[in-house]
Amino acid sequence: MMMMAALDDGFNGIPGNAGFPVIGDKSYEYYADPVDFVETKINEHQSRVFVSRILNKPTVFVGSNTVARELLSDQTDNLELGYKSLMGEIFGQNILFTEGPEAHNLRLLMSNLFSHGKMSNFHSKIESIIQKSLGQLTNTAQIKVYEFFKRMMTEICLSVFLDLDFEESTELASTIVNLTTTHWHGIISVPLNVKLLGMGKSTFAKAVQARDKLIHIIEEKVQNSAKGFLKLILPSSFPTESSIVNHLLLLTSALVPKAFASILTSFVIGSTLDLDEIESTMKNMQSSSDYLESILLETIRLWPPFAAGRRLIRKDFEVLGYKFSKGWAVMYTTYSIHRDPCIFSQPEKFIPERWMTCNKDDRDKLVAFGSGARGCVGKNFSWGIIKMTAALLVSKYTWKLPEGQDLKYKWLPVSRPKNDVIAIFQVVEDQNANTAPDGDDQ
Ligand code: HEM
Repeated sequence: MMMMAALDDGFNGIPGNAGFPVIGDKSYEYYADPVDFVETKINEHQSRVFVSRILNKPTVFVGSNTVARELLSDQTDNLELGYKSLMGEIFGQNILFTEGPEAHNLRLLMSNLFSHGKMSNFHSKIESIIQKSLGQLTNTAQIKVYEFFKRMMTEICLSVFLDLDFEESTELASTIVNLTTTHWHGIISVPLNVKLLGMGKSTFAKAVQARDKLIHIIEEKVQNSAKGFLKLILPSSFPTESSIVNHLLLLTSALVPKAFASILTSFVIGSTLDLDEIESTMKNMQSSSDYLESILLETIRLWPPFAAGRRLIRKDFEVLGYKFSKGWAVMYTTYSIHRDPCIFSQPEKFIPERWMTCNKDDRDKLVAFGSGARGCVGKNFSWGIIKMTAALLVSKYTWKLPEGQDLKYKWLPVSRPKNDVIAIFQVVEDQNANTAPDGDDQ
C-alpha cells in the first residue's frame, strides 16, 4: 500500500504514476496515440513534465520547451539514446546505437560528410529529381500528397547515397524500394511484445531477410562504385567497412524519405488551412523566401515528423529542479514542446507570421531535428532539400485540397494524415521564379 501511494504521488516531485512493472505499463495506450496520451496527461497533471510507464520502464515525459532543451543540451554522459532495444537488431550497429567517445567520433565523421561544401556537389542532382517529379503534377491530376513526396524523396536518397540512377537501373531501383519497405515493416513491428500494429514474428523475420539483401546490394555498390557519395564516404575514417555499410543502410532506409514526406505533406496542407487567405498565402510564398521559410517553420512546429524522442538515464541528475533517476527513461515529446504556450502564443494556431515577429529569434526552440549532443547531423542538408522543394513547388504551382477530406493526423511512425490526402495542383501562369531562393539554414 505504502509503495502504491508513493508511486501515485509521482516520483521525485514529478507528478504522475510509474505504476508496477508489467501491469502498470502504458505502452499500448501510448503507441495507440502518442499525442493524445501526452496531451491528456499534461492536462490531467497540470504539468508539462510527468511520469508514466512505457516499454515497461518508469518514464519521465517532458513537454516543456525549456526543460527539454536544457535536458538535450546535456554534454555529459547522464543520458544515452534509447533506441537500441527498439531498432538495434533490425539495423545493425550504427551511430544511433553507439555511446560515448565512439558516438562522438561517428558524429564528427558524419558532420564532416554532411558539411555544406561536400553536399553542395549533389545540389544539381537533387534539383533535377525534384524538377522531374514536379513535372508530373498537372492541372487536373488529383495527387496523393504523401505518396507523391515519399516517392520523390526515396529517389533522391537512393540517388545521392547509393549513386543509383532510377532511369537507367529501373529494376534494381524497384528491388531496393521493395526491400526498404519490407525492412521498414520490421522496424515498426518492434515496439516490444505489444502487437499494436497487428504485426508479429514473421514480419520481423521478413524484415531481417530484407536487411540482409539490402546489405548485400550496398556491399556490392561500395566495392564496385567509387562515385558520388560513395567516393566521399569510402576514404573517411569509419572504423570498418561494415560500419560504412551499416550507415548507408540507415541513410537509405525508408525512415529518411518518410520524414521528408511528412514535412512536405504538412506544408501542402498547412498552407491551405486558412481558406480565405489561400490566394495571398500562395502569392507571398512565391514572392518572399522569408515568408516561405516561415510557413515551413510553422509546419514543423505544428507537425514535427517525429512526435517524440527517447533517452535512457545513466546517472541521477537534476534539470531546472526536476530530478531524473538512474535506470529510468525520458521521452521528450516534440509535439508538446512545440506547443508550449510559454514560448508560442496561440500554440494551436498556424501563424507563419510569428517567425517574422514575436518568435523571430526562436528557431532554436524547435526540436523537430532533435537538439544538443545527439541532434540530427543531417539537419542542414535536409532543411536545404525541404526549402528547395518548397521553392520549386511554389514557383510552378498553386494548389488546393478538394473539400470534405479527413485531415486528422496519426503520429507514428511519422506524422501524416491518417488517410490519403489529395491535392490538386495548378500551373502558375507567370513562371518567373524557378530557382530556389537563398536563405539561412534552419
Ligand atoms: C526531414 C528529415 C529528417 C528529420 C526530421 C530528422 C530528425 C532527426 C531527429 C529528431 C533526430 C534526433 C533523435 C533523438 O534526439 O533521439 C535525428 C538524429 C539523427 N539524424 Fe536526422 N532527421 C532527418 C534527416 C536526416 C538525414 C538526411 C540524415 C543524414 C545524415 C540524418 C542523420 C541523423 C543522424 C545520424 C542522427 C543521430 C545522431 C546521433 O546519434 O548522435 N537525419 N534526426
